[in-house]
Amino acid sequence: MSDAPVRVEIRDDGIAVITLDRQDKLNALNEEVRQRLMDAVDALSEDDRVRVAVLHGAGDKAFVAGADISEFAARTANEQRQVYLRRRVYDALAAFPKPIIAAVHGYCLGGGSELALACDVRVADATARFSQAEIRIGLIPGAGGTQRLARLVGPGQALRIALTGEMIDAEEAWRIGLVEFLVEEGQHLDKALEVAARMARWSPVSLRLIKQSVQAAMETPLSAGLELEKELFLAAFGSEDGQEGVKAFTEKRKPDFKGR
Ligand code: COA
Repeated sequence: MSDAPVRVEIRDDGIAVITLDRQDKLNALNEEVRQRLMDAVDALSEDDRVRVAVLHGAGDKAFVAGADISEFAARTANEQRQVYLRRRVYDALAAFPKPIIAAVHGYCLGGGSELALACDVRVADATARFSQAEIRIGLIPGAGGTQRLARLVGPGQALRIALTGEMIDAEEAWRIGLVEFLVEEGQHLDKALEVAARMARWSPVSLRLIKQSVQAAMETPLSAGLELEKELFLAAFGSEDGQEGVKAFTEKRKPDFKGR
């Protein structure tokens, strides 16, 4: 055990498990948690043993119950602007060059929901509760809870969620596409690890380029996106792993991907 609010375990199967552990505050994101999570993501980016990451919250009650509201209470608008000018944990997750899966249980509110939105795939167990609750405290989502949310579930659902500030349960989150997997209570981490393992067997080059290409689809017109996709395909084609994958298929054997 460690009292660090962010822990990382690197498993033999190439999956890194990141645990947020600030249970007395339902894993709310304060300055320290955000910084340590960014440090973890940076270290995992550089670590060739790691092919896929899974992010989850410790304890029975929450993935993350939001940004730490007590930090908001202590800041002026100008101080909050200075915070926003610094690198942000949500962007660090989105820019992480490997797939990252959020395994969500319990409260997933405000900045917690935005953290899950910044991941690539979301798994929820039956206890998961999502909301963009900022409107309840006279604010609005400020880290993707209008932008990434609208791109994931469409503007109508995003508006409904952010304008009411109401919690939606796991079943509804799954129905509207806010999460990609819904599992029974307590199964979220196992399911995320299973999905991660199904990704981790492939070339890290392919994993990285697919993430880059799909993210670009959110930002570019179709014609520009297709151009980029073609270039990224050619990058994969020219990689050692691309050559190895094609060769292994013709030789009827399993490919041995090295990440180059
Ligand atoms: N920021 C700071 N502290 C938070 C927090 C947050 N976002 N969410 C929970 N906590 C703290 C509580 O203040 C409490 O601390 P305390 O024991 O020192 O008083 C502790 O976590 C446990 O929370 P508590 O409210 O007692 O649990 P609960 O089960 O009664 O209620 C929630 C759970 C999630 C409904 C409630 O904590 C809540 O509404 N939190 C704020 C959620 C939110 O609006 N998030 C978005 C912020 S933009």
